[in-house]
Amino acid sequence: MSLCRLDLNQGEGTSSRQLCRYGCDCAPVMDQSMVSTISTSGPGGSRSEATELPLGALAAMKGAHASKLALCEMLEQIADSLPNRLDRAQCETAAKLLTSAVARFHRFEEDIVFPVYSACAVGDNGALQTVERLRFEHRQDEDFAFELSEQLLAAATAKAFNAEMLGFMLRGFFTSMRRHIAFESEHVIARLEAVG
Ligand SMILES: [Fe+2]
Repeated sequence: MSLCRLDLNQGEGTSSRQLCRYGCDCAPVMDQSMVSTISTSGPGGSRSEATELPLGALAAMKGAHASKLALCEMLEQIADSLPNRLDRAQCETAAKLLTSAVARFHRFEEDIVFPVYSACAVGDNGALQTVERLRFEHRQDEDFAFELSEQLLAAATAKAFNAEMLGFMLRGFFTSMRRHIAFESEHVIARLEAVG
């Protein structure tokens, strides 16, 4: 089953698949009848209120990460093609994905995954601060994605564009996003897998 995978060849709005409200095709595994209960232990081993993580949510998050890494790869290809081998259609596709997909994946992580991660980390102030930092990075990446998409659309349509600035923005964005994904994989996903 494909989980939260963008069809990078089709672009936004052309897929006939049924999408969940976060814009991915994980709806079947997000059904409320398919929930698992994760019981969390508080400080000193006491049981805290149980939290629920929909079955398939971690797989969906990994799928979202894979999709974002594929987007990063596309952005790196564009950066490497500057200034003379630019694929303008690829720029247009990447611009659409930046404005449509990135924010939806962030909403999915923040609405479904982070609350459970926070509940599992009761008494761990470091983990709670981590969630706040990840949310802040989401906002930064979404703002950056919007600015980058405008530059990519300009490159896709304009005869003249600032290749040096575009390359700088591309490398800054995919480097930051890859670092964010690596951290979430090593800390958020690993912790939820450990308690699941
Ligand atoms: Fe994230």
